[in-house]
Amino acid sequence: MQIFRTQTAIKEYLRPLLSTQKIGFVPTMGALHEGHLALVSEAKRHNDLVVASIFVNPTQFNNANDLAKYPRTEDADVAMLESVGCDILFTPYPEDMYPQPVRTALNFGEVETVMEGAFRQGHFNGVGMVVAKLFHIVKPNKAYFGQKDLQQCLVIKQLIQDYSFDIKLVIMPTIREADGLAMSSRNRRLSATQRQTAPKIYAALQQTAQLLQSGASLQTAQDFYTQQILAEPTFRFEYFEIANLDTLATVTDLAQHQQVALCTAVFMDEVRLIDNLIVDLRK
Ligand code: PAJ
Repeated sequence: MQIFRTQTAIKEYLRPLLSTQKIGFVPTMGALHEGHLALVSEAKRHNDLVVASIFVNPTQFNNANDLAKYPRTEDADVAMLESVGCDILFTPYPEDMYPQPVRTALNFGEVETVMEGAFRQGHFNGVGMVVAKLFHIVKPNKAYFGQKDLQQCLVIKQLIQDYSFDIKLVIMPTIREADGLAMSSRNRRLSATQRQTAPKIYAALQQTAQLLQSGASLQTAQDFYTQQILAEPTFRFEYFEIANLDTLATVTDLAQHQQVALCTAVFMDEVRLIDNLIVDLRK
């Protein structure tokens, strides 16, 4: 695997290849797990060259402590990427990505007013900015993102449409641990006992989905999920939304939807966990 640490170096390397090679791109912040590798493997199947990036992007963290504590495991990450045949790793220095503070800002409208947008001020501006920069640097044909970050997928879809990136967005399902916990780099920060409790988030999402499928109202589902989380003293509830799959706006009338997304964020001490589940209401 070729590793590049500056925009100039990777651009020079890729420039002669762009006309003949289909490039699949997987942006990450490292501390890789099977969820990331599934994206790389899928990219490998459908492209000539796979580029992954690892960059803990400071502009998308609204909490300095979260940024400082974000796990960094470069040697293990490189070995994992090589194990699935990743061709190129771009892992830039912060000063190479941001030689000066960014002066422009992106605003994704409605999507910034709910869930991650509402609870992490400025987060999607940071995500959109860094992904736009990475898209310009790598110039991929396809870019791979995980449903684990459902709202981020919507933001990237808007970015591609609004700024005319000639890139196909591929969204891959959430990869989970055997006990249901969605894989996440932040899971490494959980204590052993927290790690045992954390799968209750997905279990509660699944039970809530079943309730909705058996005809429960929005309020019943909302109350049920909230009670499940509040019943566990080590959880700190942040949000639960039953959302329109296309816009992620809060659903107000279930009868108008065939599918909805159940989206949640829960803290365990200072570790923030998010998860979501798409529910087919026709079943
Ligand atoms: P990161 O959290 O490292 O995630 C990188 C990609 O892996 C994202 O598309 C994310 O949705 C996907 N992913 C994470 N956990 C997953 C899982 N359990 N199953 C499937 N896919 C999973 O998301 C980011 O980094 C950053 O915001 C980034 C897009 C790189 C911009 O900085």
